[in-house]
Amino acid sequence: MASTDETQRLFFALWPEPALQRALAAEAREALGKRRSRRVPEENLHVTLAFLGEVGPEARVCLEEAAGDIAGEAFTLSMDRLGFRPGRNMLWAFPARTPEALERLADDLGAALEACGLERDKRPFRAHMTLARKAQRMPRQRAIDPVHWRVERFVLVASELGPQGSAYSLLREWPLAPAGTGAADHGSKEP
Ligand code: 2AM
Repeated sequence: MASTDETQRLFFALWPEPALQRALAAEAREALGKRRSRRVPEENLHVTLAFLGEVGPEARVCLEEAAGDIAGEAFTLSMDRLGFRPGRNMLWAFPARTPEALERLADDLGAALEACGLERDKRPFRAHMTLARKAQRMPRQRAIDPVHWRVERFVLVASELGPQGSAYSLLREWPLAPAGTGAADHGSKEP
């Protein structure tokens, strides 16, 4: 339900194709076995780049403009580890190595948040995909068959909390330029 001040709960994310979501959901199922957990629905699996929280229409316009100014480069993300954090009881997939282009993209989005008057996350960016919550204890880390993800876009997502959990809508997407074309080398500060 839209609130009266028209704020939306938004975040920037990497959103995989269904086949990749299916592959990572299968890894989660296999790792969890018979353990109890609340698995994230396959179609919701994503990597958050920057969480914006509740955002009004003006800030959204500012953020979309700033996102369009980012000269991001495409990259391959190899999701090759599962991690479990006791205490938080969450199961994640994550890459052993984070591509530089991804670090830069997350950093540029953080700067965009600040430029639009929002607070950026103080914690360093750690690429992860939440696979399950409230999971019963399991080994802290394991290697999986790497799922190679060619990332060629990032998206702005709205999240609404409903009785069945979070419902996500992809609002907009921005392409990432193929690496080495020079298309992403002109910086993002020019008008
Ligand atoms: P999580 O998967 O690690 O829980 C939509 O809720 C996305 O935004 C999720 O990927 C979630 O990360 C992230 N998110 C939710 N609340 C957040 C917060 N307060 N700070 C940073 N990220 C948040």
